[in-house]
Amino acid sequence: MATGPQGGEVAPTPDSRRGRAVLPLAIVAAIGENGVIGDGRGLPWHLPSDLKHFRTITMGKPVLLGRRTFESIGRALPGRETIVLTRDRAFQTPRSGPRDGHISVAHDLDTAFDLAQARARALGAEEVIVAGGGDLYESLIDRAQRMRLTLVDLAPRGSVRFPVVDWSDWLETCRVRPRPTAKDEATFAFVDFDRRRCLSL
Ligand SMILES: NC(=O)c1ccc[n+]([C@@H]2O[C@H](COP(=O)([O-])OP(=O)(O)OC[C@H]3O[C@@H](n4cnc5c(N)ncnc54)[C@H](OP(=O)(O)O)[C@@H]3O)[C@@H](O)[C@H]2O)c1
Repeated sequence: MATGPQGGEVAPTPDSRRGRAVLPLAIVAAIGENGVIGDGRGLPWHLPSDLKHFRTITMGKPVLLGRRTFESIGRALPGRETIVLTRDRAFQTPRSGPRDGHISVAHDLDTAFDLAQARARALGAEEVIVAGGGDLYESLIDRAQRMRLTLVDLAPRGSVRFPVVDWSDWLETCRVRPRPTAKDEATFAFVDFDRRRCLSL
């Protein structure tokens, strides 16, 4: 058994058992000052610059999405391979168009994790993206090695929050405060964090 992020034991994944390096999981999220990330139906702000940033940093990588977030987007993410998490074995993805990325469905975290690792290797991606929502962030934050956060200068209403973070585990590596465009509803900063110690996944 390997040691998990909280010091407990975690079962080795097939990748670590085979001696292959596990590609890092990177959480990508936009978070309000009050921790809110969504209202259950969609994003609680209008920030085209953040959507563009999301597209840039996720392009060409496998993206894990909770079923509710996937349904709020309603389609495949072009140029990315989407892996939707749902416990519903009857879940059907919408038919994707020719320019849409591929969509897979996984019914548990380990299957999603292993599929994402395999797809990242096949795509030549250096990381796997965890793109929410709140339920999925909560489930995977302990396995994440990186976080790329957009800290939004708003405190919107909303029932979905980012999980509580133990910031002593994380090292801020980059912070930029882009000039918002006229279409952005608020100011924001892009802030990257690396976990201070490697995880044995
Ligand atoms: N601000 C941001 O950066 C950001 C990013 C993404 C999403 N959001 C917002 O977050 C909200 C949605 O978040 P949410 O917490 O309600 O839902 P969610 O995390 O998107 O999806 C939750 C669903 O994912 C599936 N799931 C989660 N863990 C699973 C597991 N271990 N195994 C199998 N399936 C699993 C379940 O689907 P089933 O019920 O089908 O079993 C669960 O109900 C929306 O408002 C969205 O706009 C914000």
